[in-house]
Amino acid sequence: MAQSLVVSAQEMDSQMQCAARVREGFPGRTYHIVTYGCQMNAHDSENLAGMLEEMGFAPAAQEEADLVLFNTCCIRDNAERRLLGNVSALSQRKREKPDLLIGVCGCMMQQAGGAQRLLSLCPFVDLVFGTHNLYRLPELLLSALSGQKVLAIGGDERGRIPEGLPVKRASAIQGSLTIMYGCNNFCTYCIVPYVRGRERSRRLADIVREAEEMASAGIQEILLLGQNVNSYDGGATFPELLRALDGVVPRIRFMTSHPKDLSDALIAEMARSRSVCPQFHLPVQSGSDKVLREMNRVYTRAHYLERVRALRQAVPDVGLTTDIIAGFPGETEADFQDTLSLVEEVQYDSAFTFIYSPRAGTRAAAREDFVPPQVQHERLDRLIALQETATARALRSQVGSVQQVLIEGASRRREGYLAGRTGRGMTVNFPGPSSLIGKLVFVRILGTGANTLRGEIAQGECSK
Ligand code: 5AD
Ligand code: SF4
Repeated sequence: MAQSLVVSAQEMDSQMQCAARVREGFPGRTYHIVTYGCQMNAHDSENLAGMLEEMGFAPAAQEEADLVLFNTCCIRDNAERRLLGNVSALSQRKREKPDLLIGVCGCMMQQAGGAQRLLSLCPFVDLVFGTHNLYRLPELLLSALSGQKVLAIGGDERGRIPEGLPVKRASAIQGSLTIMYGCNNFCTYCIVPYVRGRERSRRLADIVREAEEMASAGIQEILLLGQNVNSYDGGATFPELLRALDGVVPRIRFMTSHPKDLSDALIAEMARSRSVCPQFHLPVQSGSDKVLREMNRVYTRAHYLERVRALRQAVPDVGLTTDIIAGFPGETEADFQDTLSLVEEVQYDSAFTFIYSPRAGTRAAAREDFVPPQVQHERLDRLIALQETATARALRSQVGSVQQVLIEGASRRREGYLAGRTGRGMTVNFPGPSSLIGKLVFVRILGTGANTLRGEIAQGECSK
């Protein structure tokens, strides 16, 4: 994969000039961003908020904002339905306040026909732009504020990387850092390669600089983001990137990894690194070789299980999580049994489980052997029940140990309690003063809740 071009400094400058014109010409405005979908989208929204604040906009509740911006997802059809419902609900407010600006951006707008579908249902939307045009928000917003209807969904699917975008981070403790964009894998069910374009990696030096800036701002944990982080190729491999980032912040996580690219070098780097947490999100999607082939996942069940064994051997306490699709076209009961037996064998800490959702334009959507919805739901239920048992077992395995925990905030469940996560990614609630928020402490694990651990602050050594 060749390194791709960054957006030119000249073009970024011209966006900054538009930002200045918005700031001067339209002072005192407010914004509200509604985000759907994955961590990539959540991080894109942090960049959108950063750009808006650069333009003098201040955050506000949706009911009060002068600009409401929806950052959309199209990975499954429920994300689309929710979006259309929520945008439609604004039509009344737009009638009462005609200078309210409504913008819709992100993956669904980049999808073929997505913007047209939205505009036919919600013609009052002022500003529409896709994933390739996110960095052009200042220019697009300036046009919208000047009374034009703005539609910017084109762009090169090989994409260009905007460096130096403003960012307003949602947390002062943990932050996301995009290392690569796009996906080349074309799993047959997935719309992502069509809306996020081809794989392109940021330069190693740009990533290290951003990580160092985050560390100077006090961030303790960085989540490296990409559709396929272990295909990273920004003049270095992904394990080399992890090596370059080791020690910059106390904790590093990454997602998402493709099992086909889980190399021995990456496993060795995980075992060695001081910063990389013992957690691995490794989507399997199905346990059936036939379904994996039809999904174009390019690995077999045996290969996946071999990689899991290698990972566990090198990093014994690693917490594995996964994504699984139930009811892919043509999936038989025997195929699904293969998925259940794989889940039983691997013993994930947790799993994101989905019902297959046809996405127009993907290869699987053209099939005719869809699994009936009732069977899909019944399979999903069995999968969830099985995973719940594994999750409970994984949580129980931690009881009695002392774990290093990054305290993320006050517990939502109990007054006087704090909540944080272990290196393995499990949430722990324990009593403690709010002055500890943002700190790394040792916590003795005393018991388990439904999806969380309970503990108390421990002195001394961590048991792993
Ligand atoms: N239907 C159901 N689940 C899907 N995913 C991606 N596309 C689809 C689809 N069409 C799931 C996969 C992926 C996760 C992010 O979303 O499990 O890993
Ligand atoms: Fe979609 Fe597959 Fe790419 Fe993941 S690797 S984004 S599931 S096409």
